[in-house]
Amino acid sequence: MKTTEVDVFIADIHDHDCDEMVEQLGRDCMERLARITHPRRREQFILGRSLLRHALLHKHGAVAEGWILDAASGKPCLVGVGAPEISLSHSRELVACAIAPVAVGLDVEYCRERDFVALAEQICGPEEFHHFLSLPMSERSDGFYRIWTLKEAIFKLYGRPMPLAFHASGLRSRYFWPGVDFLAALVARTDCTLCLKLHSPSSVRLK
Ligand SMILES: CC(C)(COP(=O)(O)OP(=O)(O)OC[C@H]1O[C@@H](n2cnc3c(N)ncnc32)[C@H](O)[C@@H]1OP(=O)(O)O)[C@@H](O)C(=O)NCCC(=O)NCCS
Repeated sequence: MKTTEVDVFIADIHDHDCDEMVEQLGRDCMERLARITHPRRREQFILGRSLLRHALLHKHGAVAEGWILDAASGKPCLVGVGAPEISLSHSRELVACAIAPVAVGLDVEYCRERDFVALAEQICGPEEFHHFLSLPMSERSDGFYRIWTLKEAIFKLYGRPMPLAFHASGLRSRYFWPGVDFLAALVARTDCTLCLKLHSPSSVRLK
């Protein structure tokens, strides 16, 4: 069976001086950055764009002249002939960027204790909530974050909320753990076997 390869690059804010990376940002990104006031959010934004640049260089050798990063709607996408599909996510100190030949959605979440029943009731459809309640107490934290990250990843791929059952057709998904107490979901629009290549923070050298 054919495979679809998706690369995910992960970086840790603590490993980088985000102020030094600002000068690499293009004009549109600088305008976006000027509107972000929260210090951690600024770091996430800068590192996300730097990681995207790194991912493009790693996978394509160069950032093609004709590829334009359009993030006017919030969803960043590269426009231009042969441009790959991308998705970005950040949570606390971790930033991740997926790059693929097909549409992708990526979500990273830091997993902590919360009122999982109340939250699941808010975000789940009736069948999803029923499934969540059927989980033993010891599995509810993991179960909740799996539902949450998958829904967010699917939202990012489609640009709108979708029931989880929808992802059975034409989408492949994977979970991975980008750091201690972090969970991530990746969805890709493909019928092929999904081959996920993770590039851990220790292997990502940003310039
Ligand atoms: C937009 C949204 C998906 C961002 O997710 P988040 O977990 O808050 O934040 P993340 O760090 O994972 O993702 C942020 C990145 O997603 C990307 N993004 C923003 N809007 C997006 C959209 N509409 N579609 C795809 N990607 C988007 C951006 O790259 C952004 O980072 P940047 O601003 O630094 O470039 C989320 O806030 C949202 O509105 N979700 C919809 C609610 C919903 O129905 N969810 C499903 C049920 S849980």
